[in-house]
Amino acid sequence: MKAKIITLPGDGIGPEVTGEAVRVLQTIAQQFGHEFTFTERLMGGCSIDRYGVALTDETLADCKGSDAVLLGAVGGPKWDDPMAKVRPEQGILALRKGLRVFANLRPVKPHPALFDASPLKPERLAGVDVLVLRELTGGLYFGLKSREQTASGVRAVDTLEYYDYEIQRVVELAFRLAAGRRGKVTSVDKANILESSRLWRQTAAAIGAAHPEVALEHMLVDTASMRLIASPASFDVLVTENMFGDILTDEASVLAGSMGMLPSASLGSGGPGVYEPIHGSAPDIAGKGIANPVGAILSAALLLRHSLRLEREAVAIEAAVDAAIAGGCRTADLGGKLTTRQMADEIISRL
Ligand code: IPM
Ligand code: MG
Repeated sequence: MKAKIITLPGDGIGPEVTGEAVRVLQTIAQQFGHEFTFTERLMGGCSIDRYGVALTDETLADCKGSDAVLLGAVGGPKWDDPMAKVRPEQGILALRKGLRVFANLRPVKPHPALFDASPLKPERLAGVDVLVLRELTGGLYFGLKSREQTASGVRAVDTLEYYDYEIQRVVELAFRLAAGRRGKVTSVDKANILESSRLWRQTAAAIGAAHPEVALEHMLVDTASMRLIASPASFDVLVTENMFGDILTDEASVLAGSMGMLPSASLGSGGPGVYEPIHGSAPDIAGKGIANPVGAILSAALLLRHSLRLEREAVAIEAAVDAAIAGGCRTADLGGKLTTRQMADEIISRL
């Protein structure tokens, strides 16, 4: 098949890991007889330096016209001033909103050979296979914001707002995904405090009633953050609002041994998806060629599965990564010595 892929390598280690994911996709194209074209665009800090904004209208239009977007990471000390008018993160938010990718899939399945890289006891990690589904275009990230000087002090406001249909579409996806897995959905909220969470819980309950074949449990976010560490194997699909999902997935990455291991897929209803590792731009190791490319490479596998419907090809990449990890291949984050390029070579040689 033919596919147009836009790459947004971004800042820091973004270009290093994205380059390796592209090499893996090129190898897959060759082996399976596909034609993938890659078009690189600027997004994040590098786009601010060049154009003055983190994501230009042209680049967003290019993404809209593609089959899928492969993203690296954005940000760095150079653009870190929180009071700056333009910030690299605005690029990611504008991309998510512009492509309407409301569902962010973050699978966490620790590899047994990496159990010792996690601070958790191996018996806790056995059988862990969680799919976190994070709502991605609503909530605090996109609600009205303001800051004003008042008589009693400076007042800053962020708004946590959800429409029922925004909750419905992501929870419905959670049920579809759970039906193809172990049949359990944990809906995470803060319904004892937040009105938006009460709507979330009510909406999830109604969808649950229509899907008796899938078990639904509601869990408060504070409890969920404890259970993710205390009994991570008890989760199957965990669905939650934007910021809870942001926080819980950094926590969940500890189970996998390193942030560098985890991929993500951001999906809407039909348009191009966005695929990116969950790690950031890691300015401290940028340019050294030692970043772990696995999160980016597994994101490429998700791209094949979800945007191009190439399941066999996706499985081929995942199997090659598993084999490389089982064979002892390790980058520095996992206590090894392989460079980014060497790690990718080990994976490609197992394809
Ligand atoms: C993530 C990141 C982003 C987020 C930042 C870079 C805007 O932390 O993808 O988890 O908060 O969504
Ligand atoms: Mg995050």
